[in-house]
Amino acid sequence: MPHLVAPSLLSADFADLKSAVQLVDQSPAPWLHLDVMDGVFVPNISFGLPVIKAIRPHTRKVFDVHLMIVAPEKFIDAFSDAGADRLTVHYEACTHLHRTVQAIRAAGMKPGVAINPHTPVAALADIITDIDLVCVMSVNPGFGGQKFIPHTYRKLAELRALREERGSSALIEVDGGVGLENARELAGSGADVLVAGNSVFNAVDPAQAIRALGA
Ligand code: DX5
Ligand code: ZN
Repeated sequence: MPHLVAPSLLSADFADLKSAVQLVDQSPAPWLHLDVMDGVFVPNISFGLPVIKAIRPHTRKVFDVHLMIVAPEKFIDAFSDAGADRLTVHYEACTHLHRTVQAIRAAGMKPGVAINPHTPVAALADIITDIDLVCVMSVNPGFGGQKFIPHTYRKLAELRALREERGSSALIEVDGGVGLENARELAGSGADVLVAGNSVFNAVDPAQAIRALGA
């Protein structure tokens, strides 16, 4: 399968979100990646439910919501109501991950699980058949524009092997430090979805950057 590009709104101009959403809407990127941060799970606060709800009418692209929050199970129905299509929670934030994943699916969204750079792929062995996406964090979550962590490539190989061994069809998403310099190699290493914030919204021509990342 050719890889998808999911531009991350985190690096857009927050004073002009409508334009950023429209830019993605008119691009070939099928997903819009939305990073929700609570200042507890990660040392930063981004945006939340009201913003997602406000931008929802401006595009039909898939809303790929990445929750970097503690106790995400409290907000599953709220994110569904706000317009999330896919909801990804952190392995490190969920004591009852299996229950949370089932609840996300029951709410009509596709569940995903994100793993921080220090979390081994093996931790997903007993959840990978229950989810639609694994998000491999290739930076420590919390900020856009950070440097890509190279051990991600090894994790991608391990994840492909685990997916095969368990008979899972979960998509593999790479999030953090993705740009033109590594997009092709990541896709060749098995990434199905490339999240890109800084390399899209801080590019001279963001629409062209999206096209180039997908090539
Ligand atoms: C980081 C977020 C990412 C972020 C990626 O915590 O999860 O989605 O927007 O930003 P870049 O592409 O700038 O590394
Ligand atoms: Zn993200």
